[in-house]
Amino acid sequence: MAIRLGDIAPDFTAETSQGTVEFHKWLGDSWGVLFSHPKDYTPVCTTELGRVANLKGEFDKRNVKVLAVSVDSVDSHKGWINDINETQSCTVNYPIIADPDKKVATLYDMIHPNALDNLTVRTVFIVGPDKKVKLSLTYPASTGRNFDEILRVIDSLQLTANYQVATPVDWKQGGDCVVVPAIKTEDIPAKFPKGFTEVKPYLRMTPQPDL
Ligand code: BEZ
Repeated sequence: MAIRLGDIAPDFTAETSQGTVEFHKWLGDSWGVLFSHPKDYTPVCTTELGRVANLKGEFDKRNVKVLAVSVDSVDSHKGWINDINETQSCTVNYPIIADPDKKVATLYDMIHPNALDNLTVRTVFIVGPDKKVKLSLTYPASTGRNFDEILRVIDSLQLTANYQVATPVDWKQGGDCVVVPAIKTEDIPAKFPKGFTEVKPYLRMTPQPDL
């Protein structure tokens, strides 16, 4: 069955380019990003893995661990990582799961046979510290993902988790946020000392609370 938002992210143990990972234990209290790649030594994947390596500091700042999965062996991953480092000016500094038997790919429904025979499509799962799935997305093999967008979503998810705000269309760091509908307007001043604007009774905006 498909994994839905709010589900517990399925746990697994897998070999990776950095040793054995027990997923839930490895996550600990961190957030996590699990993302799949169709195959080693493929061009779009090479650029994506390099970008994630160069963004590792941004993920660390947000207490997020990143974990890639590709349906090839550890030895294959290690050779490919050398190419990624060379061509993308990076050091791949996070584990890549070796999934030749497609155990993780199947567990997370990452193989969409009508799109790509026997290989994973490009999926992303963001998992919270409670191990629940907070976001899932699926891209075709031919379109590289935008990892700035993944960071933007993480910022939004963490604001919601910590401050009871949501983020409006095209929100970026520093932009005003939406007070969640569960908060009554009369309770806003106590919770949001930076103030708020009532555009409509159901649309209440407040400055980003963590700045
Ligand atoms: C790629 O990563 O470049 C790729 C992989 C599978 C199909 C198409 C592109």
